[in-house]
Amino acid sequence: MLQFLEARARRAFFLVPFAYFAMAAISAAGEADVVNIYSYRQPDLIRPMLDAFTKETGIRTQIIFAEKGLEERIRAEGALSPADVILTSDISRLAAAKDIGVTQRLDDPVVRANIPPQYRDEEGHWFGLTLRSRVVFASRERVAQDTITYEELADPKWKGRICTRSGQHVYNIGLIASMIAHHGEDWTETWLGGVKANLAVKPTGNDRAQAKAVYAGQCDIALGNTYYIALMRTNDKEPKQKAWANSIKVLFPNADGRGSHVNISGMALAAHAPHRDAAVKLMAYLTGEAAQKLYAETNHEYPVKAGVPVSEMVASFGQLNADPLPLSEIARNRRMASELVDRVGYDDGPSS
Ligand SMILES: [Fe+2]
Repeated sequence: MLQFLEARARRAFFLVPFAYFAMAAISAAGEADVVNIYSYRQPDLIRPMLDAFTKETGIRTQIIFAEKGLEERIRAEGALSPADVILTSDISRLAAAKDIGVTQRLDDPVVRANIPPQYRDEEGHWFGLTLRSRVVFASRERVAQDTITYEELADPKWKGRICTRSGQHVYNIGLIASMIAHHGEDWTETWLGGVKANLAVKPTGNDRAQAKAVYAGQCDIALGNTYYIALMRTNDKEPKQKAWANSIKVLFPNADGRGSHVNISGMALAAHAPHRDAAVKLMAYLTGEAAQKLYAETNHEYPVKAGVPVSEMVASFGQLNADPLPLSEIARNRRMASELVDRVGYDDGPSS
């Protein structure tokens, strides 16, 4: 066994020497008052909640932030991984972490009570912390209607009028996976081909770029996550984003029917979690009233815990009627969604 661990340690050293030793040096497994977080979420976004946790419990947190590759890093570090908690946005990434075996089951009564069942893994490997809806950003000037459905995006009346980011981005994969859950594979393929035919330009840029494109008159409607509108409208660092967001009205698709597609940001307990007890305390804390309020106010996301109010800005968008589809079903359909994006050539744009 010892030999096995040494081999793992050597491999981990080879693959991720700096980060591995940096973390190992400052957070030995015996130390009980620290939680090591591997995060795809920007440290600035999660710092307020982590600071509040430390203030209440005396347990410190340390973050390793990366834009990709954290699951592979944890896998390479093996049984000696310093990772306790994984924080990320999007169900696809949470499900991927479970699939490659870098998470472990958690059955905690506080976490279970705070997170509705559709927003957590039935086997306890991942948990939603916040919700965001994938809505339509519609031009105030050029779109008269105040309601819309995802289905309608394939209607020829929108020809040349829609902008989106890449179909392969996890945010769009989540939406397309939900369409597969509701309508089946064949129907969704036809629908996606219809949306592609309505695109104004080849998919490019992030969600904020889509808002800019609507503002600039390149397209009349776009797809984007709710919090971006709030972040742009309050962006004092780049005030031009306020104009982009103010040129748009938020339409919640399928609001009068099954509800608008929602995705999550969430967390998982790392497979080997050297500070398991402290990690579970943090995970429970993040689902509680105080942290959920902070998520709502600072990030303009929807709290996952019932009864916690949204920010004033998010409330101004109108009432979210969330599609109750379990996120695990979206996770199951994500590979098929990605295949359909390729099959219809979505990212090639409207003219191919
Ligand atoms: Fe985002």
